[in-house]
Amino acid sequence: MSKIFVKTPQQPKKEYPIIIDKNLLQKSGELIQSSTKAKKLLIVTNSTVEKLYLNKLEDSLKNLFEYDCLILEDGEEYKNISSLEKIWTKAIDIKLERKDAIVALGGGVIGDITGFAAASYLRGVDFIQIPTTLLAQVDSSVGGKVAINHQNGKNLMGAFYQPKIVIADTDTLNTLPEREIKTGLSEIIKYAFIEKTCNHNTNFDLLNFLQINSENIKNLNHQTIQKLIAICCELKACVVNQDETEKGLRAILNFGHTIAHSIEKCTNYTIFTHGEAVAMGLKGAFEISLKKHLISQDYFDTAINLLNEYNLMYKIPQNIPAEDLYNAMFSDKKVENKHIRFILATSKAEVKMFDDIEKNIILETLKSLK
Ligand SMILES: NC(=O)c1ccc[n+]([C@@H]2O[C@H](COP(=O)([O-])OP(=O)(O)OC[C@H]3O[C@@H](n4cnc5c(N)ncnc54)[C@H](O)[C@@H]3O)[C@@H](O)[C@H]2O)c1
Repeated sequence: MSKIFVKTPQQPKKEYPIIIDKNLLQKSGELIQSSTKAKKLLIVTNSTVEKLYLNKLEDSLKNLFEYDCLILEDGEEYKNISSLEKIWTKAIDIKLERKDAIVALGGGVIGDITGFAAASYLRGVDFIQIPTTLLAQVDSSVGGKVAINHQNGKNLMGAFYQPKIVIADTDTLNTLPEREIKTGLSEIIKYAFIEKTCNHNTNFDLLNFLQINSENIKNLNHQTIQKLIAICCELKACVVNQDETEKGLRAILNFGHTIAHSIEKCTNYTIFTHGEAVAMGLKGAFEISLKKHLISQDYFDTAINLLNEYNLMYKIPQNIPAEDLYNAMFSDKKVENKHIRFILATSKAEVKMFDDIEKNIILETLKSLK
């Protein structure tokens, strides 16, 4: 079992644990009990995860909690105000009180929307994260960003709201479609490229770990995956501890995301998963870094080889003009004073923020990703 503690500057004395292991769903009742005084729980999941894991979770809660469940439709398109209202209404119907808790069982979509419901219902009730996708276990369940989408953009309404505990059962990854595993791997590879800038006092050398353990990782070998998730959570927790609300350092977690968000927007979030867009965004960020002479050709090749090793090479569809992708970058939440913000590689596992990348370099890079 790996156990990592997340401290946040706003609540320094209220650190919360991330527990990573197999067979954890069976133990979640006790784990939840150790993290909250709640007597009643509202479990929120979706129609896919319900069939796979809700029974297991319920078995572990039966003798410990009063609980009720809400099953949402599966899909990013349901991460909206209507699903949020369903959670609020269910919580009111079952008379969930201020001291009770809401549990998210699912991937990043369920985690984000349920977290926002927990943050807003009765001005905040305890929130428990049980992430069941690789992306949610290494990224979205950690750090307290919760949100819903608006028809005009993703994650436009949300909050910073930390969970009481994150329970990551690696067994749940065995039913995850390969495409969703690869989505998680893109975010994991991102951590390898930003590791030193996270300022963690341990040198995990995640880049090397990913290079030498690729077969075990692709085969979801339990020990390797547990260690990998733990390293990513350590790095994210360390960044969140330094900058919970993204006033500075936390922006490095967006390495590869400037281009990724514009690809997602220009394809209406339909062609690529978030991770596939991030993989293209990482390649683009490395190309700009090379063009700006920030990194060596050797390091560039290492990065591309790693993306290749994990079969994360995708292409932007030819019919999307580079100019459209460029314009879409201006609608990103991270645009400040009309400057597009890029996080770029500066040396091995180090990145820096840039607001002054020339338009022609960005356009050339976007064209090369087709
Ligand atoms: N809060 C954050 O910091 C943060 C960070 C990154 C991404 N996100 C958000 O996360 C979301 C993406 O998360 P995601 O990639 O987990 O997608 P997701 O939640 O849509 O899950 C992907 C698919 O896998 C299914 N699924 C989940 N667990 C499963 C399992 N164990 N076995 C089989 N199928 C399973 C889901 O039902 C869904 O169909 C986006 O909305 C994104 O904005 C948030």
